[in-house]
Amino acid sequence: MTTFKTSTQSAREVAADLLIVPVFTGEDIAPGLRETGLADSYAASRLTAKKGETLLVTRRRGDRFAAEAVLLVGVGPKDGFDLITMRRALAKAVAGARRFPRVATTFAQAFPARQASDAVQAAVEAIGLGAYRFDRYKKPSGDPKLVRATVLVSSRWDAKAVTRAAKTGQIVVDAVCWARDLVNTPAGDLPPAAIAKEAQAMAKKAGLTCKVWTEAQLKQGGFGGILGVGQGSVNPPRMIELRYTGAGRATPIALSGKGIAFDSGGLSIKDAGGMETMKCDMGGAASILATMQVIARLKPKINVIAAIPCSENMPSGTAQKPGDVITHRGGTTSEVLNTDAEGRLILADALAYLAEQDPSCIIDTATLTGACVVALGTDITGAFGNDDALAQEIVAAGTTVGEPIWQMPLWDDYRPLIDSKVADIKNTGKRYGGAITAAWFLAEFVGDTPWVHLDIAGPAFAEGPTDLGPAGATGVPVRALVRFLLDRAEASRR
Ligand code: BES
Ligand code: MN
Ligand code: ZN
Repeated sequence: MTTFKTSTQSAREVAADLLIVPVFTGEDIAPGLRETGLADSYAASRLTAKKGETLLVTRRRGDRFAAEAVLLVGVGPKDGFDLITMRRALAKAVAGARRFPRVATTFAQAFPARQASDAVQAAVEAIGLGAYRFDRYKKPSGDPKLVRATVLVSSRWDAKAVTRAAKTGQIVVDAVCWARDLVNTPAGDLPPAAIAKEAQAMAKKAGLTCKVWTEAQLKQGGFGGILGVGQGSVNPPRMIELRYTGAGRATPIALSGKGIAFDSGGLSIKDAGGMETMKCDMGGAASILATMQVIARLKPKINVIAAIPCSENMPSGTAQKPGDVITHRGGTTSEVLNTDAEGRLILADALAYLAEQDPSCIIDTATLTGACVVALGTDITGAFGNDDALAQEIVAAGTTVGEPIWQMPLWDDYRPLIDSKVADIKNTGKRYGGAITAAWFLAEFVGDTPWVHLDIAGPAFAEGPTDLGPAGATGVPVRALVRFLLDRAEASRR
């Protein structure tokens, strides 16, 4: 575990194995470092501080800085420099600097005092997320772990605010890395009941109310979608219900996330390649668990409830069959024409359950459709919903934290595509527009509640390294959700 701290020490005197320093195109090296020998090394390198350029300078006799080494990181021109550029550059620098257990950085100091807190939080996030590794299943490598990160700040900044920002950053890092761990863990080691156990342990530690619905309780409650999808697996389904109360009797915000422990496709089975990464299909669930952990630790003045459905989608003699009709929570029936369109079936029950509780809004996240990846590529989350203002609020939260989200149309004329001949609705549309028909299916279950569905099939899991971490689970969209909730808490105080 990495500890993060802030310090008003100068860049020259900070003791660290590695000091990470931004260099801007056309600008001199940071004022405090000019006389240390670094400027000469930099000049000799003939670098121009283009984005992505780096220069590692090891301390030599006569150099007047305390760090063992300095990494100069080109970040382009100063006027295009913002928090997103910093997060990327710093995370990448940390990812490439694995041999240094104690790092320090002057990155946050590139921002003006009014952005001090945001800059410190973003710096902590960048370091923590950039250093993330999932090596639980590997032989010990002997590589040192990042143990301490120091964010250097200006002594003129509000010390309390800066300390709080670092703490917030650490809480966010802990949660995003936990979400990544849950998703990266092989499905064989994390069936629905194990996800629920993780949730219970987290809730106990963080101080959340947690109820885990067993298969029998789900039957009693009429959760036919969660049960139908789960019936082909030897690992029975669960539903995780979490509550955070930070504002007395205020109307809660409701969250849900798709928790398919493994998606084989069921009897509408996927091909071998299509299944390779399907342990990621509980990425929505993990993102909501992590978001709830952050909220429990930051304690904003809002109420939040979460209902997270967890099933495993497997083919077997007991599996649901194409053509089967299931009855969801609340009574709506659906015809299961393709057992691989399972995410909407389990979310339907959870959404109906949440809508019963009259929340102010419902947000769900799900690795729902390949169609959304075709539309928006691997980096962008698709947002669908019945309330444009709410969707734009989420989009804005994503923009702020550097998790791109794009609003997609819940096009009225496509609603008939999920009309069924035998049930109320069916679980597939036509070949095209698959992300939209999936969203229309979910819309059936939220009633009039303002609702946004985030399709994270692209950004939840990465084939190669991303800006903020290695290949594998990304933890998207935890930071956007946290931002949205904190903004809501802030707005309700005014
Ligand atoms: N979990 C998948 C969607 C997915 C695809 C997530 C790629 C991450 C990466 C989902 O359950 C699924 O299989 N969707 C089908 C729906 C279709 C059968 C209507 C799809 O997108 O092909
Ligand atoms: Mn599927
Ligand atoms: Zn799926």
